[in-house]
Amino acid sequence: MNSQQLGSNQNKLMVGCWQLDDRSWKKISEPDIAHAIDTYISLGVNAFDTADIYGRSEEILGNLLKKRDCQVFTKAVFFSGIPSAMQVRSKIETSLHRLQRDTLDSVQVHWHDSNLDFASTFDTLNELVEQGKIQQIGVTNFNTAMLEKALKFAPIHTHQVQYSLIDRRVEASMQALCLKHNIQLLTYGPLAGGFLSDKFLGMKQPHLQSDHARSFYYSNTIQSHGGWPSTFSMLGTLAEVAQKYDKSISQVALNWVSQQPGVGAVISGLTLSRQQIQSNVEAFGWNLEIEDIELLSRRSAELFIQPGDIYSYERN
Ligand SMILES: NC(=O)c1ccc[n+]([C@@H]2O[C@H](COP(=O)([O-])OP(=O)(O)OC[C@H]3O[C@@H](n4cnc5c(N)ncnc54)[C@H](OP(=O)(O)O)[C@@H]3O)[C@@H](O)[C@H]2O)c1
Repeated sequence: MNSQQLGSNQNKLMVGCWQLDDRSWKKISEPDIAHAIDTYISLGVNAFDTADIYGRSEEILGNLLKKRDCQVFTKAVFFSGIPSAMQVRSKIETSLHRLQRDTLDSVQVHWHDSNLDFASTFDTLNELVEQGKIQQIGVTNFNTAMLEKALKFAPIHTHQVQYSLIDRRVEASMQALCLKHNIQLLTYGPLAGGFLSDKFLGMKQPHLQSDHARSFYYSNTIQSHGGWPSTFSMLGTLAEVAQKYDKSISQVALNWVSQQPGVGAVISGLTLSRQQIQSNVEAFGWNLEIEDIELLSRRSAELFIQPGDIYSYERN
């Protein structure tokens, strides 16, 4: 699923592997991870998203996918300052080693500080593309000004952003910029960590597990966009639409994201539940009708505020 291959609704699911980082999600054993990955692959899903900072995720994927025809998109995350060329090269060599590959399908760059001058980092990444160590460069959580600047330094193929019926900040200006430059959106958090599913329908207050990123990352999204009452109402509308198609709430939430302009892949986080995996696979390959997409979009616009550009409150 390089950027040329992204796009058919049949095959838009990418498996997010943040869940392999047991500092953010509950610990899962390697046999359980292997079993889940076998299940995804047996159902035709062969694209995975990871990052240098997701605990042992790259290493685990390297072991499990080494003899398989799968694509792995990783990230290079720089939390502070501009790295030297040597630091960038070393980061990429580490990812190559952990993933047991000669070349990385895609490296998505993230900076926490949006005021940095990152031209030199893209120069080094361009050299690594020329040397065949990286197939393509993407970015993640860039705001509009950062992406406009980055386009001067490197060809950007994909942009990974949070996008769901709750979080539609991408629509303010980023989506148009990406469409203009043929940059595919890779969308994370399409289920808001699982909140947009039948499991939370009708819940006046959700039960939060302290060992789960749902509790801190996506509760924060919900709080910043209007609070649980808005999500409670959105789940009601999703349930009505889901009933019409004989689908589940999560399937409708995933399908809605997949049909938004410029979306090349929908990244949903790895789950161990065979039933959830199958349900997520079957969220694609069919289309919500325009009138239902519009109904969901209208309802979401009524319920949720969209504070700022991409990843703005996360950066404080
Ligand atoms: N670039 C960034 O800054 C950034 C930030 C966040 C995420 N990401 C990437 O995007 C990926 C996807 O985002 P995400 O995992 O945070 O959000 P998500 O896909 O909205 O949520 C994933 C969680 O939802 C639950 N789930 C999955 N399928 C379900 C279903 N059919 N019904 C009900 N619940 C379901 C699972 O939890 P249970 O198994 O516990 O049910 C799973 O852990 C991550 O893994 C990561 O690769 C990137």
